[in-house]
Amino acid sequence: MAKAKSVFVCQSCGYESPKWMGRCPSCDEWNTMIEELINKATGRKASGSGENNKPVPMDRIDLSMEARGSTGIAELDRVLGGGIVKGSLVLVGGDPGIGKSTLLLQLAGSIPRSHKTLYVSGEESVKQIKIRGERLDINNQNIFVLGETDLDIILEQVKRLVPDMIIIDSIQTVYTPEISSAPGSVSQVREATARLLRMAKTFSIPTFIIGHVTKQGAIAGPRVLEHMVDTVLYFEGERYHSYRVVRSVKNRYGSTNEIGVFEMKDKGLVEVPNPSEFMLEGRPAGVPGTVVVCSMEGTRPMLIELQALVSTSNLGMPRRMATGIDYNRLSMLMAVMEKRLGMQVQGQDAFLNVVGGLKTDEPAVDLGIVVAVASSFKNLPVDKAAVVIGEVGLTGEVRAVNSIDRRVSEARKLGFDNCIIPRDNLKQIDRKAGKIIGVGNIKEAIGAALEG
Ligand SMILES: Nc1ncnc2c1ncn2[C@@H]1O[C@H](COP(=O)(O)OP(=O)(O)O)[C@@H](O)[C@H]1O
Ligand SMILES: [Mg+2]
Repeated sequence: MAKAKSVFVCQSCGYESPKWMGRCPSCDEWNTMIEELINKATGRKASGSGENNKPVPMDRIDLSMEARGSTGIAELDRVLGGGIVKGSLVLVGGDPGIGKSTLLLQLAGSIPRSHKTLYVSGEESVKQIKIRGERLDINNQNIFVLGETDLDIILEQVKRLVPDMIIIDSIQTVYTPEISSAPGSVSQVREATARLLRMAKTFSIPTFIIGHVTKQGAIAGPRVLEHMVDTVLYFEGERYHSYRVVRSVKNRYGSTNEIGVFEMKDKGLVEVPNPSEFMLEGRPAGVPGTVVVCSMEGTRPMLIELQALVSTSNLGMPRRMATGIDYNRLSMLMAVMEKRLGMQVQGQDAFLNVVGGLKTDEPAVDLGIVVAVASSFKNLPVDKAAVVIGEVGLTGEVRAVNSIDRRVSEARKLGFDNCIIPRDNLKQIDRKAGKIIGVGNIKEAIGAALEG
């Protein structure tokens, strides 16, 4: 009998080493190397050595497989790049309790009733899923629920049922008996995903797998998972807010960074067709420190509110806090304000918040951050019809941003007709409609935005 071999695998990035190490040399995480047994015979099977693996002339490649089917949920279609592609493997990640199982059960309920769905759950019992289905008003004889974690049995059932869609409720619970390490470990997750991938491609069944995320927000286990699948969707949202954002961070069939916005209600996730309106609800008018910016989320412009609070610090090292925006970005922009405008903000405590718990890392919100901080510092409100758009450079210059016409028209649609935009963007838009101010540096922008 061959001796069982073991290897130490980093549970954070999937790096393998024959020896134990305290720190992973690949991702620099501490204490992530765990010993896993490997079975060479089954662990590394050369895939696709069969007869249908021949080069094909490009003009003869059959595209019928790539046809998209609508999910019946417009916001989900959008993040998937127009619908479900046959044979695609989609990974859905997100914090516990955010609504992954809910969304995918709703998906099963919203595709055409004649389509068979296999919902495999290793997390909840079949009864619990039924209870959830009742709450969501999903009762379809073509949704088959399987409470199973053994991948061999799952694949067996797939062959028997031949479903039109498969949902695996959590890849971390699925295991392959040939691999002796525990379910959820890197080798298990990787092997299970590889086999599901093969199955999805062979039978061209679209497959959705739910993945848990770690404290750092990455999908638990290996990042290698993200390379294997066709599409990665992340579920975002704050625990205490009802809206949920599904963002595509990787998509082989559509643009990435596209978002779908939902609201979590008793009846499940409800689509929010106009997120800008939703995000600006309850915005205070005429108070210092709040400003509306426009961030491009994929191909969709979204208006969001930024709030800043700047106050005299009584600490040696002033406090800075940024929620929803990169902390370093805030620090940098405040340094630019101090240096270029002589505004004494460096010695002040500063708090910045993206209202609604949204996260954005778009450079076009830079100018909004500067205006919000200046507004709070000077205690002057921003014109309530103003939307502020622009990237800020280290010399305090305002730089052009992409998709300016779409941002401006979104702002107009919601009644913001004082658009403060980078001067270099002026030539790209139709200036006849409404008020548009082109600014070249942060000083001009603050002058144009603040009242009084
Ligand atoms: N009976 C209920 N009524 C209303 N909302 C519920 C009920 N049960 C669960 N929820 C909501 O559904 C969410 C759970 O979603 P779920 O899809 O199980 O999350 P995940 O699969 O991401 O862990 C909870 O955060 C909760 O807000
Ligand atoms: Mg769940």
